[in-house]
Amino acid sequence: MPLALSRRGFIGSAAALSAAPAIARAASAETPAPVPVNPLVRQRADAQVFRHDDGYYYMTGSVPEYDRLVLRRSKTIAGLSTAEEAVLWRHEASGPRSGFIWAPELHQIDGKWIMYFAAGPSGGGDDVFRIRTYAIVCDGADPMTGKWRVLGEFQAPWDSFNLDSTSFVHKGVRYFAWAQREPGIDTNSNLYIAKLESPLKLAGKATRLTVPTLDWEVRGYKVAEAPAVLHRNGRLFMTYSASATDARYCLGLLTADENADLLDASSWTKSPQPVFVTNSATSVYGPGHNSFTVDEKGRDILVYHGRDYEAIQGDPLFNPDRHTRVQRLYYTADGTPDFGVPVGNGPTPERFISAADPKRLLAHDGDRLIAGNPLLPQTQFRQTPGRAGARSVMLSPILLPDHFLVADKDGVLTLQKDRKTADFALRSQFVRFEDQGAVRFVAIAAPGKAIGIDGDQVKLVRSRDPRARFHAD
Ligand code: AHR
Repeated sequence: MPLALSRRGFIGSAAALSAAPAIARAASAETPAPVPVNPLVRQRADAQVFRHDDGYYYMTGSVPEYDRLVLRRSKTIAGLSTAEEAVLWRHEASGPRSGFIWAPELHQIDGKWIMYFAAGPSGGGDDVFRIRTYAIVCDGADPMTGKWRVLGEFQAPWDSFNLDSTSFVHKGVRYFAWAQREPGIDTNSNLYIAKLESPLKLAGKATRLTVPTLDWEVRGYKVAEAPAVLHRNGRLFMTYSASATDARYCLGLLTADENADLLDASSWTKSPQPVFVTNSATSVYGPGHNSFTVDEKGRDILVYHGRDYEAIQGDPLFNPDRHTRVQRLYYTADGTPDFGVPVGNGPTPERFISAADPKRLLAHDGDRLIAGNPLLPQTQFRQTPGRAGARSVMLSPILLPDHFLVADKDGVLTLQKDRKTADFALRSQFVRFEDQGAVRFVAIAAPGKAIGIDGDQVKLVRSRDPRARFHAD
């Protein structure tokens, strides 16, 4: 009999699945949350971030030492960067949980806080990769201050390498998904799903969802791991990570109809191409092991790790620089997630949709500014502090992070590298005004003029012109 769910447990555990926008909206009714800056948290890989019904964001992840389970919380996503981190549990002095501690996930199941994690023995040699899934349980209502003890080992279908478990609730039933090496299949790990009877016991037979066979899944190692589930637009989207944990690491996607039998492998369709990969333009390498949450306005957020350099000395698994990163998750017209590209270091970017012509966004094609709706990454611009006083800002496309919007003498807007001149320093400065839900960027070099969209042109228009109003998204 699958696990019964209390209301609290349902909301707490379902947070990653079907966000609680109402709670999120309440927060945004107060002061706007600070803009997260990537990397959000340095040297925390495999990050799980979710917003609990207590209004806090909780974050856990793998530490470079792989020796402990940590947890932090904050009222805002940006606040996770500096939030105090509690150590909930440390690996043991000997035995099966005395070595690597990997990829924790915090869930509230039937009112109890449970943290799943993968662990192996110490002692050197290949035995350290005898990785199995365990859980610790908290004795109180506050996971940051409660006492944690080992609940036990996940009763997996085989006694083999298994890791990266997650749990989610769908239609009142709790599911468990994880990665495991299956006897007789020559891969590092495949993905499995089953209903959960109790935190460590499956309610029935496991279903194999995917085996890494495609070229982008088997680079370095044959890997399908780190499942994460999002329920949106009538479908369940399960992302997973593939290939070695270097720059070849990437996200794949399985999709099922929300009314399908999730335990029938044929209910899930695999995207033939990866949905999220290394991007040298934004300098993010090996993006993966993601989770999902919502921001303070209830908008979907992709949480993942990635390095900001490509070349790694030694085994990538022991390179500490898989940093936690966040970015908005958008959707295509048919409701499919559009992962775009990893946006790179710095304040998270926005899209600017013309209030006068919502089919057109501020965008660029190479170093040419355009007004249109091209690929998502071409519409994402990063706002950074300007050089003409506290209110001045600069705008830079994420794909050309060394280029900035510049208001030329003749009112033309262009993308230019920093010429290190007084003229550039003046013409690249704007002031952001927000009124009635729209933003305007007034050019400091052209008083009374602002960035505007006129047809497929981006140009300076009178700052009160409707063409100067954008919806920031
Ligand atoms: O970060 C440690 C392990 O490396 C994670 O469990 C897995 O997702 C990744 O391959």
